Amino acid sequence: MKVFSGSANTPLAEKIAAKLHLALSPLEIHVFPDGEKRVRILEDVVGEDVIAVQPTNPPVDTNYMELFFIVDALKRSGARSVTVVMPYLGYQRQDHVFRSGEAVSLEVVLKTLEAVGARKLIVFDLHSIKTEQVSKTPLIHLSALPLFAEKIRELVHPGGVHPATPGVLRSDSPGVNDVEAILVSPDMGGVRRVKVVSEILSHMPFVAVEKQRDLATGSVTAERMHGGEVGRCAFIVDDMISSGKTIETASNLLREKGAEEIYVFATHPVFSDDAQNILQKAAVEKIFVTDTIEVPKEKQFEKLEILSVADTIAKAIKE
Ligand code: R5P
Repeated sequence: MKVFSGSANTPLAEKIAAKLHLALSPLEIHVFPDGEKRVRILEDVVGEDVIAVQPTNPPVDTNYMELFFIVDALKRSGARSVTVVMPYLGYQRQDHVFRSGEAVSLEVVLKTLEAVGARKLIVFDLHSIKTEQVSKTPLIHLSALPLFAEKIRELVHPGGVHPATPGVLRSDSPGVNDVEAILVSPDMGGVRRVKVVSEILSHMPFVAVEKQRDLATGSVTAERMHGGEVGRCAFIVDDMISSGKTIETASNLLREKGAEEIYVFATHPVFSDDAQNILQKAAVEKIFVTDTIEVPKEKQFEKLEILSVADTIAKAIKE
């Protein structure tokens, strides 16, 4: 087996390779003055089962084109199979026609991956289950939710005392007990995610925010909560953070409803535009994300903690 990486998230690809007791295999990505790219595989892959790691986060189109070229180059160079590890799948939110006249971008990119020769896709916390239905290429759908549940368990220590190891609860916090802790979906579409975490955490109660997003302007509003009372300590669980507006809006509503400490768990740190500033100022204690997308230094902020999914991916590859 050989592991290759595109340029979107080399640190994660290196970690995955290391967990498989391999080093990354070399490839060359040449960028021409006009922005076009030329991809060249620099190692013999004839008859090999190959892994190509490339999340398709922003710049989405650039990362997709690079991935298409990598898969094509691997197939032309004689690879027996190419498994594409796409920890973040760009365009997954455009999974159907929302308003007449729109393209279904998700279908386009999945069809192209199939056409260039991807045999299998390994993906992480998909936005909607529709992706699995749309993809003709077999798909392994992994999740960071068990990782998040473990972290939440560390925070909500049974008996309402601080975790033994330095945790993230505020130093003046009296601790959290099961009665005071609540899981939160920041929109109705995310309820299935909090349900998974709730199951792992012995049916921790959950609520869901009714969020509205203006499709034309992108502005987010939320006035109502469904599912019950808000506890003193709220754990928001989401698949991704893009502009940060969903988290900002949900946390403001949670504060209004009585939450005193709020922790955010989101798999994909897309962090577009000014997200890092919105998130650092948001009324939350800490924001946990994963390394499905590399967060550049200039987009990191004090409240951010990054958990790695390399182990989960390496285990799935071994299987
Ligand atoms: C929406 O349905 C998703 O689950 C996320 O809540 C959303 O994409 C986050 O986007 P933003 O950070 O731009 O509000």
